[in-house]
Amino acid sequence: MRIQDQIAEKLNLVEAYTITDASSLEAFRLLFISKKGELSALFDAFKQVPNDQKKEVGQLLNQLKNTAEEKFKIQKEALEAKQQDGEIADFDVFLPPVPHALGSLHPLTTVGQEIIDIFTKMGFTLSDGPEIETDWNNFSALNFAENHPAREMQDTFFVEKNPDILLRTHTSSVQIRTMSTQKPPIRILSVGRVFRNETISARAHCMFHQVEGLYINKKVSFAELKQTLLHFAKELFGHKVQIRMRPSYFPFTEPSAEVDVSCSLCHGKGCNVCKHTGWLEICGAGMVHPNVLKNCGIDPEAYTGFAFGMGIERIVMLKYNIKDLRLYTENDIRFLRQFKI
Ligand code: DAH
Repeated sequence: MRIQDQIAEKLNLVEAYTITDASSLEAFRLLFISKKGELSALFDAFKQVPNDQKKEVGQLLNQLKNTAEEKFKIQKEALEAKQQDGEIADFDVFLPPVPHALGSLHPLTTVGQEIIDIFTKMGFTLSDGPEIETDWNNFSALNFAENHPAREMQDTFFVEKNPDILLRTHTSSVQIRTMSTQKPPIRILSVGRVFRNETISARAHCMFHQVEGLYINKKVSFAELKQTLLHFAKELFGHKVQIRMRPSYFPFTEPSAEVDVSCSLCHGKGCNVCKHTGWLEICGAGMVHPNVLKNCGIDPEAYTGFAFGMGIERIVMLKYNIKDLRLYTENDIRFLRQFKI
């Protein structure tokens, strides 16, 4: 085909090309404007045109080039004007959407809820207390001696240097609030934040979470405490788990115990996590001290009860083999994503 005819054909194509949106405009640009487009082949062929035809062909070529460029310019401006008027979207509505990344619950929330579920099925009801407490509810009524070291500045955050108002150091304060306002039988669980004046490290934090349990009734026995905690441990760690109780001391219980579960990693054989003992401590517990009952207006001759308290951070550490307490509060998305369910 003569070059003149090829040019005429392209001119027809340029004129007939319909541009409706950003992508057809871009396709037009690639075809007719870009250096790699179809017109540049014609410009290359121009070099071969005999001299006597050069003037005519050159004019035709320029006309084609100008028509394409003019059309591109007009269409581009028209499209931009439309976009500004909001007539058309400047994005492709047919593209598949980017999926929304769903968040996940914090492990302290999910395990906390698991613990609550286990105890509420045993008849415990939730009871709440404030994080800012009085010395009476946090210490004195719980039978802490006047000079007990836990009251000292190193352990307790006092509010505005007032030694009577403090950030609760444990959820045991809710025991006092409940026993002072309710009549036995009482069976409550209290979950919440507690605060201690500790330097933050892998093993200690100034803020953490505790679950406190309390059962007061006629003739409540230590055997019931043991059975309750065994059932709890089996529900949380699996039915093969065993518990043991070691004698301990808390001012608000007598007798007092520390409760261990058999290490679920080595099944009692001994490993790094349980420091080769086969056991992991999960909570403190005991029979409510008669002085504590008296302080709340409950007759220790008529009623007995048990109490227990555990740290949720510690339980989550044992369940997921987490080595550093600081991970809970650093908001590192890589840590949190592992708990997606
Ligand atoms: N309040 C104790 C603590 O923070 C934990 C505790 C131990 C709670 C024994 C209890 C208990 O109710 O009986 O270390």
